[in-house]
Order: sequence, then C-alpha cells, then structure tokens
Amino acid sequence: MKKNPYGLFGLRRLLPQLRSYRTPLVLMLLTSALGSIVDIGVPLFQRYALNHFVALGTLDSFPLFLILYLAVILGSAGLNYISCIYGMKIEVGVDMDLRNAAFSHLQTLSFSYYNQNSVGYIHARVMSDTSRIGELCSWTLLNAVWQGCYLIGAILVMLLTNARLALPVIAILPVTALIFSLFQRRLTQVNREIREVNSRITGNFNEGITGARTIKSLVIEDRMEKDFTADTEDMRRKSIRAARLRGLFSSTMHFASSMALALVLWKGGYIAASQIGTFSMFMSYAQGMMEPVRWIVDAVGGLITTQVNIERLCTLLDTKPEVLDRPEVLERYGDTFHPKRENWETLIGDIEFQDVSFRYPDGEETVLEHFSLKIPFGTCLAIVGETGAGKSTLANLICRFYEPTDGRVLIDGRDARERSQLWLHSSIGYVLQAPQLFSGTIRENLLYGNPEATPEQIDRALELVSARDFVDRLEQGLDTDVGEGGDLLSTGEKQLLCFARAILCDPRILILDEATASVDTITEQKIQSAIDTVIRGITSVVIAHRLSTVRNADWILHMEDGRIVEQGTHEQLMAARGGYWRLYTRQYEDEITLDALG
Ligand SMILES: Nc1ncnc2c1ncn2[C@@H]1O[C@H](COP(=O)(O)OP(=O)(O)O)[C@@H](O)[C@H]1O
Ligand SMILES: [Mg+2]
Repeated sequence: MKKNPYGLFGLRRLLPQLRSYRTPLVLMLLTSALGSIVDIGVPLFQRYALNHFVALGTLDSFPLFLILYLAVILGSAGLNYISCIYGMKIEVGVDMDLRNAAFSHLQTLSFSYYNQNSVGYIHARVMSDTSRIGELCSWTLLNAVWQGCYLIGAILVMLLTNARLALPVIAILPVTALIFSLFQRRLTQVNREIREVNSRITGNFNEGITGARTIKSLVIEDRMEKDFTADTEDMRRKSIRAARLRGLFSSTMHFASSMALALVLWKGGYIAASQIGTFSMFMSYAQGMMEPVRWIVDAVGGLITTQVNIERLCTLLDTKPEVLDRPEVLERYGDTFHPKRENWETLIGDIEFQDVSFRYPDGEETVLEHFSLKIPFGTCLAIVGETGAGKSTLANLICRFYEPTDGRVLIDGRDARERSQLWLHSSIGYVLQAPQLFSGTIRENLLYGNPEATPEQIDRALELVSARDFVDRLEQGLDTDVGEGGDLLSTGEKQLLCFARAILCDPRILILDEATASVDTITEQKIQSAIDTVIRGITSVVIAHRLSTVRNADWILHMEDGRIVEQGTHEQLMAARGGYWRLYTRQYEDEITLDALG
C-alpha cells in the first residue's frame, strides 16, 4: 500500500470545500447539545414527582410542574428537530459540493488517469466516498455530540445527587465501551466481507447478462453457474454470521443496561423511602446511559473507517493532470471553464514532430524514438501498419492527450505547450474506432460538437455523412433519444453521428483512428465519401486497416514498432514493391475472393 499523506484527520484537506457549512454546522451542534441537555432534565422531573407528589402526597405546585415539564419535553423535541434539519442540509450540501468538486476535477485530468483507473473505481470515489463523508459531517457528528452531552450530563447529575450510588454505575461504563468496540470491529469486518462478496455477485450477474451470447457460444454456462452458486453460498454463510453477531451485540447491550439497573437496585437498598424519586431517577439514567456509549463507540468507528474514504477522495482531488497548461498559457488563453477566446490565434493546421521520443506514463517500453515528421497544412496523411505499431500514439500526441517524453510537437510552427489544450482541442475533430455518444437526443449529441451550430449547419453535417436518411426515418427525427451511450442505435449509425459531430466543430485538423474498422461496408462507403469532401482545405490524419480508405491520401506512412518503414504516395509505394505493396495485394486478393464468393 502506498503511504497516504493525509493522516488521520485528512478531513482538514477538505475543509476549504466545506467552509460554507460553518454556520449550519455550529447551529447543528449547538441545538443538538442543547437538546441533549434539556433531555437530561426529564428524569429530574420524575424524581421530583415521586419524591414530592407521591411520597408526600400533596399536589401543591402541580400546575407549575406540569407547565415546566411540558416546556422541557417540547423544548427537547424542538431542538432535536432543528438540529436534524441542519444535519440534513449539511449532509446533502456536503455530498453535492464534494461530488461537484470531484467531477469538475475529473474533467481536467488527462487521458492517462482514465487509463490507470477503472470506471468502477472512479465512480465509487465520486459517489460513495462523498456520501460517507457527508454522513460523517452531519449525522455521525450530530449523534456524537448529542450522546456525549447526555452521557456527561447524566454522570454529573448522578454524582451531584448521590455519589455513592453513582460510582458503581459509572464504573461499568468503560467496560461496556470496550465490549462494544470489540463487537463493532468484528461487525465492520464482517460487513466489509459481505460487501465484497456482494459486489462480486453483482459483477458476475452483470457479466452473465451482458455476456450471455458469448457464454453460450463458449459453452461455459456450467462453470459460470458453479461460480455463481459458490458466491451466493459464501454470501449466505457470511450473512448468517453477521446476523448472529448483531444478535449477540444487542443481547449484550441489553445485558449491560440490566447490569447497571441491578447495581442501582442493589446499592440503592439503603435509600430511605422518602428518596424513592432519586432511586427511580438513577434507574432511568443507568438504563439510558448504555445507548450513548454505543453511539460514541459507533462514531469513533465511523470516523476511523471514513478515513479511507477521505483519503481516497483527497487523492483524487490532488491528482495533477499529466498534461497541464503552464500558468502563463492559462493567463493568456484561459482555462477549460473560462476560455479567453479573444486571445486565441486561428489554427491553421501545420503539424510537425521534432525528434520526438515517447513512453506512456505507465508503459514499460519507449513507443517512439527520435521520431520526426512534417504534416503541412492541408495534407491528407494516411498511416498504416500492424496493431501496436504506434499509430494511435501519434494521434494522441497530435491531440496533446499526452506530451512527448523528449522532443517537441509543433502546431503551426510553435510548440503545442505554448498554447492551451482547449485552444487545440477546439479545432480538432477526432473520430475513434468505437463510436461514443452520450445519453440524450441526436440533436443534443451533435451540439456537443458545436453548441452554437444552427439547424442548417446540423442539416448539412448530416447530409455530408449521409445520415439524413436514417435520421428522417426515425419517428422523432433529431429529437430521438439515443439511449445510454447511444446504445439504441447501431454501431454504424452511431459512427455516422460521431463523424457529423466532428464535422460540426469545423475542425482544422481531422483525425480518424480506424473510424471505419467496426462498421459495415455501406457505412464505410458513406464515411469514405464524406471524408473526401470534408478534408478539402484542412489537415487530416487517417489511420486505417483497409487500404481502400487510404489510397487517395496525399501521403502514406507505413509504420512498424514506432518507426516509419516506408512512406510515399500510393503509386510510389506500390511501385517500390515493399511491405505496403505486400499488405495491399494481400488485402486486394482477399477482397476479390470475398466478392467472388459473395
Ligand atoms: N495507454 C497506454 N499505456 C501504455 N502503453 C500503451 C498505451 N497505449 C498504447 N500503448 C503501447 O504503445 C504501443 C503502440 O500502441 P498504439 O499506438 O496504440 O498502436 P496502434 O494504434 O498502431 O495499434 C503498443 O506497444 C502499446 O502496447
Ligand atoms: Mg490504434
């Protein structure tokens, strides 16, 4: 495990985020302390009633007693209510603020963060860690203060009324606290184990459903079923253990308060009959004191376990993006949330790699070594090569999703780091192999490309990628909901929309990374014809497996292991009869065979 710099009270790191809750926090603690102090008074009334009205058999001052008593119970209820309102406000507010902070910080993080951390991990940081912290700042704190005040107050009142009777009761408190904390530790552990099994079961269950087809085709239903049964059996055993532990815990709890009561009865034998009220008051306190002890032990346990959540959230909030704009760049170009577009130069589209070496932050090997390449403005550059040759890496570097380990990437003759990421990204269209849409309508998705696009521009973009037909065929046209991740559309349709979205931002540089690799031939043809139109007058980088897509490019790179092994136009490379020619003829023959078969 990595050592964490936040220590036990990592909460301090989060204080700036929580500053606006100072007033409600103080009010919550104040009302809860007051409510608890008022509550301590209730057994005092009981004592007075028994000692005075019952023992002496009079009813003088009874109306005053009644009024005071009512005032006390109403006051205690009112104060508790107010503190709960503040508690709730703090809980939801802290939740929201921390989630917003985490989410907006995630937007600034670079690609590499998402490579190194799974979606599940990030999701848990943003959702469950924040909610644990919110709970700690509100309910745990509120309860600890309420119960703490009650405990101290009750002890004081008991000591002041009858120290001899009070001491034995007080003496068993530490013992019960110890027993509780032992139980608590066991319970926390068992609960954690249950959570782990549970998430394993959910995961398997999800895979069982989403992968149903693969499971069937691999004929591994039997094994999946066995794994699943083993997990649920494990769950059953652990749940029973937890239930048994909880049962034992509450019996012990009961036993402890009965013990306290027994002590009072035993030691209280000598109290005179006229002191019957004191006796009864002690019984109330003795029984009522076990609950606060449990709560305080709980709160301490909560504070300890929430440390992990605090540390993890702090680690996320303190993760620095790998790619960071320099302060003077931010000063001039603005940041993601406050761009200063008035200072932005128009991007022309000259790209140059100058002696670039590159290794992924978590990678073992150097992917590019002393790599140099010029892509003049307006060129259509195609890159071909085996998987792992470094094609996508080149695209990542052009987009500045990563920065070179050595050397420079120049955009329009200037180091990309001299200008902001947003400036660059605003002029780049990027289409990947796996199309990515967001939940919402088709129109909303297209507007992500350019929020200011007019309906005419949207129409033209759809026209260009030949997506008009399929959108028109949908009942609600542009306002059709695409589902989570666009899953209500086919891959080909999604890809056409991604392409339209990329076109809408009117890019100066267009990058297509195997954009047609996972679509059918008809969609490929549509995209191909769109590419031919769109790339006129802009710089484009087309990474493709199918050579039919690259033969029209101005310049073709054939890469292997991060190096350029051949380059030239299609005709030149064919004439050279090298690797490109071999790739091309092989594919060409395959296509002809397929056609003949089809
Ligand atoms: N995010 C990453 N982290 C570490 N190594 C990576 C990452 N992406 C790619 N690589 C490595 O970089 C090399 C080039 O990969 P890539 O540029 O994706 O190749 P291509 O797109 O040509 O298939 C490969 O050896 C691959 O293992
Ligand atoms: Mg790739």
